[in-house]
Amino acid sequence: MRVYCAKDYNHASRVAANIISAQVIMKPDCVLGLATGSTPIGTYEELIRRYEQGDLDFSKVHSINLDEYRGLSPENDQSYRYFMNTHLFDSINIDKKNTYVPDGLEPDKDKACRDYEEIIKVHGGVDLQILGLGHNGHIGFNEPGSTFEKETHCVTLSDTTREANARFFNSMDEVPTEAYTMGIGSIMQAKKIVVIVTGEGKREIVKKAFQGPITPEVQASVLQLHSDVILVGDEAALAGF
Ligand code: GLP
Repeated sequence: MRVYCAKDYNHASRVAANIISAQVIMKPDCVLGLATGSTPIGTYEELIRRYEQGDLDFSKVHSINLDEYRGLSPENDQSYRYFMNTHLFDSINIDKKNTYVPDGLEPDKDKACRDYEEIIKVHGGVDLQILGLGHNGHIGFNEPGSTFEKETHCVTLSDTTREANARFFNSMDEVPTEAYTMGIGSIMQAKKIVVIVTGEGKREIVKKAFQGPITPEVQASVLQLHSDVILVGDEAALAGF
């Protein structure tokens, strides 16, 4: 694993955008694995800036997102589809038909998971996976547990995750209790992985995940076994790392 310690959030965002830009330039028809959360917003802003300057072309890129809340429609401003449209897709020349997020409205859980697995397979997996890190070590919505789930599955969100994400909703009651997430197996099959961690609040979990034992209790710890991971953090998150 390589570690890049950036000065601050903006610097980390530029570094992550550099890596994504290199991927898109080297392989214009690549498959990007994309993440939501507040961490990658700066990275996406930087990609938009580079696209507007004429330095990046997303017309042949496909994207596969990590996760989606179960029960939220694409128009719901808290859905991850809405997040991706507003924070990235609407502002670059990616073809929306080539962007995938699990279907939060599919009533049949198993079908929603099977369909998404099929999408991942048809695209031959992910070239570059972007990851944020949950406060409990989750990646996507793979919550602490007793196993590493291989494929796309429906999870019951932990209380800590619902509390952490409640800031985006009007009240705790509105925070969905379930979500669909890509499995650890699919994440681990990505050719390259970039994990972005910023802010003091992530200091403890980043140490646990990358310097602690590999355990499903800290799902991100499995990334220690991947051969091409770059951790892009800022000084606040990586202090003492
Ligand atoms: C959410 C998402 C994750 C994200 C994480 C961290 O629950 N499902 O994909 O990485 O939380 O979010 P943030 O970047 O806001 O700290």
